[in-house]
Amino acid sequence: MAISVENGVFHLETANTLYQMKVDPFGVLIHLWYGPKTDYTMDYLLDYPDVGFSGNIHEAGGRRSYSLDTLPVEYPAGGGSEGDFRVPAVSAAYTDGSGVLSLRFREYSIQKGKYAIPGLPAVYAGEEEAETLEITLLDAASKTEVHLLYGVLFQKDIITRSVFVKNCGDAPVVLQRAHSLCLNLPYGDWEWMHFYGRHAMERQAERTALVHGIQESSSSRGGSSHQQNPSVLLCEKGCTETSGFCIGAALVYSGGFQTQIELDQLDQARLVMGINPHTFCWTLGPGESFHAPEAILCCSNQGMGELSRCFHRVIRENLCRGRYQLSKRPILINNWEATYFDFDEKKIERIARQASQLGIDMMVLDDGWFGKRDSDTSGLGDWVVNENKLRGGLDRLIEKINGMGMKFGIWLEPECVSEDSDLYRAHPEWVIRVPNRNPVRSRSQLVLDLSNQEVIQYLYHAVGKILRDHHIEYVKWDMNRSICDWYSAALPAERQREMPHRYVLGLYSLLERLTGEFPHILFEGCCGGGGRFDAGMLYYFPQIWCSDNTDAHDRTLIQYGTSFFYPISAVGSHVSAVPNHQTGRVTSLKTRAAVAMAGSFGYELDLNKLTEEEKEEVSQQVQAYKGYQGLIHSGRYYRLSNPRKDPMAAWAFVSENQREALVQGVLFQAAANTLPRRIRLQGIDPEGSYRVKQDGRVYTGRALLCGGLILPRQEGDDTSFTFYLEQISSCEK
Ligand code: DGJ
Repeated sequence: MAISVENGVFHLETANTLYQMKVDPFGVLIHLWYGPKTDYTMDYLLDYPDVGFSGNIHEAGGRRSYSLDTLPVEYPAGGGSEGDFRVPAVSAAYTDGSGVLSLRFREYSIQKGKYAIPGLPAVYAGEEEAETLEITLLDAASKTEVHLLYGVLFQKDIITRSVFVKNCGDAPVVLQRAHSLCLNLPYGDWEWMHFYGRHAMERQAERTALVHGIQESSSSRGGSSHQQNPSVLLCEKGCTETSGFCIGAALVYSGGFQTQIELDQLDQARLVMGINPHTFCWTLGPGESFHAPEAILCCSNQGMGELSRCFHRVIRENLCRGRYQLSKRPILINNWEATYFDFDEKKIERIARQASQLGIDMMVLDDGWFGKRDSDTSGLGDWVVNENKLRGGLDRLIEKINGMGMKFGIWLEPECVSEDSDLYRAHPEWVIRVPNRNPVRSRSQLVLDLSNQEVIQYLYHAVGKILRDHHIEYVKWDMNRSICDWYSAALPAERQREMPHRYVLGLYSLLERLTGEFPHILFEGCCGGGGRFDAGMLYYFPQIWCSDNTDAHDRTLIQYGTSFFYPISAVGSHVSAVPNHQTGRVTSLKTRAAVAMAGSFGYELDLNKLTEEEKEEVSQQVQAYKGYQGLIHSGRYYRLSNPRKDPMAAWAFVSENQREALVQGVLFQAAANTLPRRIRLQGIDPEGSYRVKQDGRVYTGRALLCGGLILPRQEGDDTSFTFYLEQISSCEK
């Protein structure tokens, strides 16, 4: 049993971890422990100091040492409730203007299997893999129920969290915050790692000590954003890739989010995570419920690497879905950086023909194939082929490409519209804008109101028609701006603040229908590169275009940050031309391929412009990736360096049975008169012996774990290395 209850104490066990909480004598649910497995009830760690200016709940009578302001309350209420002045998990307001929630334990239930969340993406698991605990808390005065959901995936060391709030009273309740998780950490010296960035430089890992007060990573941009990511790590000081304790949380949500960590007056840390309350409010009528998105939790006593591998496994095996979830992805050629908007069918055919000769599997036609779309200022929303560019239409082009032995994929941006488009002219009321105010444009486009069912219905038919009418086997689903001017013509005034979340719900419902109806299509998410790279999107799309920055050097930093939570198979990454279009940097074709291989691989350049030697190199890279893809996507991933600090980026994939490993990396700046660098491996069998394919040398696993591999001498900046290691049997040694 993963979940058990004894004397009011809840034990949630996984293979290596334990989560504990208890109902105290006042009916308050108190967090006790999240960490390595112990065999004890951890309430001996609780302390009850009499802290000045920390209030005492009424039931505590004269006991001044009982304060919710000092205790690790499992799901604390805000808005002036009950004297817990730290970051809350939930806040509500009633018709009389008050906003107190006194949440007390009411009941619990345990079920086999993993709960699902209506309308929202969530981890799925069968009855043999997971158990669910549901704890009901009640605010008796307002009859508001808070249901805490815990999904325990025993073997995977994963605990999922979600919450739903039910109004059992007879007056409306306005939810101002309904976070997915709260986690109290009364002891420890913590650092937090979050992932900041910008367009074309997403998910830069930043680790700093907690300071007293509140630290926050959040987005109020409508999507999860390039600027912050809905994932966070808490590391005990000294925690490394391979040792020490850390906790990770990833929100399964693609809209505005908030992660807050407060270090309080007693040096206790509290983490809360959920929908960003700055762009959220939800009115619950009598009998109605609100479901918060899911958060995935994991902790590791063996450093950050193990934590990441747990996240990779659960996201890949229990969140991603569809035909391509675990199967090999086609190597693609995308025309965006090769042509931008300037193409016709001849140009596309030439790129495709060259690609097919080099062994590439699929041609992806990017932006510009539809409507009046010669630049990003017009045509968006008009999903009819532009026959001035593609004479003969889509079908003829697809037939030709299929005739070359390649699949065909297409770019779409269904959520946005150009003002210069037939769609906007026909339905100006479908865009997000406040009446009597001018909307903000971004990339010269507006956003369709996906909280409006009429718009969802239209998009389902418009996109469905393209996918039904043509032989399309891949879709790149793009979204190229942040959302502001929140207002929906379809919602009454008192519901307007629900709109950001309703937008996400509308998007999810559309994606659920389309991905369900077209299971043979590989969908790749995109949001100006990696602006919506989150666990929510990975429920619908098994891969996401990681960044619009295709420069190999920068990509090592972006992919490093991305790797803390998201599986390598989820990372769309391409080899592009040099000088790189985003940075002007020149790197070798070898380096560009080594970096792009740490993901779902492709090319994004005009292959016809390569020399014959380069074409031969591409053809070898394509064959190499085809050989390695199983190991890269299903193997265990190890970060061997921190490219934000070290002079190199290095990573490895090791097969589950430790029989093979692929070690790759980039050495950044060349220097004169140095010893060659070396890299210590991780994850291989210390008792085994390994032959390196590139030079035939044999090493013991232990030597490689301790001494490491000697890296090739650098001849210029950003040179790369690739070693493929195969375990040899004892008679071969
Ligand atoms: C942003 C994407 O990230 C690019 O790859 C490309 O598809 C453009 N949009 C097209 O407008």
